[in-house]
Amino acid sequence: MDLYQALQGRRSIRKYKPDPIPADLLEKVLDAARMAPSWKNLQCWKFIVVQDPARKEQLAESLPAANPALKAVREQAPVVIALCADPQQSGIQDGKEYYLLDAGLAMLQLMLAAYAEGLGTCWVCWFDEAKARAVLQVPDRYRVVGLTPLGVPEHAPSPRPRQELEEIVYMEEWGRPYKK
Ligand SMILES: Cc1cc2nc3c(=O)[nH]c(=O)nc-3n(C[C@H](O)[C@H](O)[C@H](O)COP(=O)(O)O)c2cc1C
Repeated sequence: MDLYQALQGRRSIRKYKPDPIPADLLEKVLDAARMAPSWKNLQCWKFIVVQDPARKEQLAESLPAANPALKAVREQAPVVIALCADPQQSGIQDGKEYYLLDAGLAMLQLMLAAYAEGLGTCWVCWFDEAKARAVLQVPDRYRVVGLTPLGVPEHAPSPRPRQELEEIVYMEEWGRPYKK
């Protein structure tokens, strides 16, 4: 799939078919995440692949009832991937903690690769980290940055709105309007 097609076509998927994901395909999308850029190439991330239905259910208990991705994590998606990152294995510059950025880039690469393979994902960050940490046995030095269900989409959501380029791009300096 063309990269731009993936960038335009990817959606957050919150309804999944129960179809299992072949191990080779799972490895392919994990490998896409592995190739992400990171602060000083320190690759501060770890991925936990959760497939056991009982553990997925326990993990889902870390999501509030109002989280629209709850059902996907709890019972629909055959796989849930938890993304963890070690802040000490990344950098802090002017108070900006780059482990979050490193982890986010890895997750985005995974999501785009999944989309290119016909699979759905949905970033999930609205969860109780302490609960997720306990369920997944994550060591204290790692933060649980996010989760994503992974599976065959059961729906094709329409695109969510995005700001226009004119609203978010300046030319040369802050406030100078964008021109093509
Ligand atoms: C950092 C981050 C956290 C998110 N957390 C959640 C979440 O907890 N639950 C959920 O349903 N969607 C979550 N989303 C998905 C966003 O709602 C979604 O990306 C946004 O509405 C745009 O829709 P799209 O991904 O289909 O383009 C999250 C996205 C990001 C980037």
